[in-house]
Amino acid sequence: MSAIRFDYTNVLADAVGPAHGLTDEELASFAEPSARALDAVLGRRATDLRWLDLPYQDDVALHVADYAASVRGRFRNVVVLGIGGSALGNKALQTALNSPYHNIEPPAGLPRLFVLDNVDPDLVGEFLDRFDPAESVFNVISESGGTAETMGQFLLFRQKLIDRLGVEGHREHVVVTTDAEHGALREIVGREGYEAFVLPDGVGGRFGALSPAGLLSSALVGIDVQGLLKGAADMDQRCRARELDANPALTHAAVQYLLHARKGKPMAVTFSYSHRLKDMADWYAQLLGESLGKRKSRSGEDVFAGPTPVSALGVTDQRSQVQLYVEGPFDKWFTLLAVDEPDHAVELPHAYDDLEGAAYLGGRTLKELFQAERDGTRVALTEAGRPNATLALEKVDAHAIGQMIYVLELSVALMGEHYDVNAFDQPGVEAGKVAAYALMGRAGYEERRAEIERSAPPARRVV
Ligand code: PA5
Repeated sequence: MSAIRFDYTNVLADAVGPAHGLTDEELASFAEPSARALDAVLGRRATDLRWLDLPYQDDVALHVADYAASVRGRFRNVVVLGIGGSALGNKALQTALNSPYHNIEPPAGLPRLFVLDNVDPDLVGEFLDRFDPAESVFNVISESGGTAETMGQFLLFRQKLIDRLGVEGHREHVVVTTDAEHGALREIVGREGYEAFVLPDGVGGRFGALSPAGLLSSALVGIDVQGLLKGAADMDQRCRARELDANPALTHAAVQYLLHARKGKPMAVTFSYSHRLKDMADWYAQLLGESLGKRKSRSGEDVFAGPTPVSALGVTDQRSQVQLYVEGPFDKWFTLLAVDEPDHAVELPHAYDDLEGAAYLGGRTLKELFQAERDGTRVALTEAGRPNATLALEKVDAHAIGQMIYVLELSVALMGEHYDVNAFDQPGVEAGKVAAYALMGRAGYEERRAEIERSAPPARRVV
């Protein structure tokens, strides 16, 4: 089990020049604000930021493992019904820790995992056409217990289950993860007697990957949930240090904030040089964007704050986005996700030894090619004056992923202090939800609907 590393050599002025890189003085001057931010965040561990303690919820890990063991072999499919923070962690964990081909041929006794985090009728309709709900268990995940997309999907699949299995029979195919007391889903759990897991207070959606929201579906598809929590706990211990150089979350948060605030880099590109980590980049995009993208500061002033997250996949996006990244505007910084030891090396055969364009590859491995492409991109970005850091894992395993989730969550919480915004709410998302309720004719939202209709500008269309 090894510690993940945050290498920030190439965000420094020594590497990319003083116009785009941070000087030692700039970083040193941020040591004290960083330590204060850490004190402020960790000081809320026992009150409202309960997600900081998720790594130590051994009883929760046991509960999900027991449930997974009790249903092993019963279902062909685990279907997550959830969205945003109630879905992105599930996807990221599955992509990181199971085979990319898991759903085509799952290991014996394990189900496939589908995360239906959209109400696009073609996505859901196609699922209904192809998969038998009677072979599936539906994990309905919602912190609020009332999100329209999740509730709509739950109603749909509940009825399909009842049609196939009857009212009594359908109940074993639903397992709910929601608040202990509040929300429509909790009320439904009480009425139906569904198996249910609790999302504890102080564990907001996007900070809940290590809660039952992320762990239950993981345990069902064979992921080592104890290893995830152990990795997160090890990272938590590292991240108690108040010195930048000893604490990867503190350094990561400082680099992100200073590159944005002092060097004009509003775009944060997470460039995953690992197929396994590609959905971690998407999970982080939500964590960063929804936590820090805020109109108001904590004292109520308009600040319109927040970095813009972008996710990219190496090598694939080298042939689509790197041209822009190396020669386009100087408005971005990059975090490369790197893996030292992929599970496979994959040797290339020798052929066409008389053709230099093919011969140099013979006898080398895809691992070497992939890592050379990654390192080549790092060199190209650095030489073009584009600050870039690397978050490196020795291997992609549960322990490393637990560390990665925790360090990025804590880093974003620290950035909330630096940007002086509330990193734990999402008023902009709520506004859209309310508008959707109004447009769907939900009781109590009639006035909002009338307002939307009154304020609609005259249509301008090209038909
Ligand atoms: O991070 C968040 O809080 C959001 O992305 C929520 O997870 C998302 O809006 C879904 O909400 P809920 O879990 O209440 O259904």
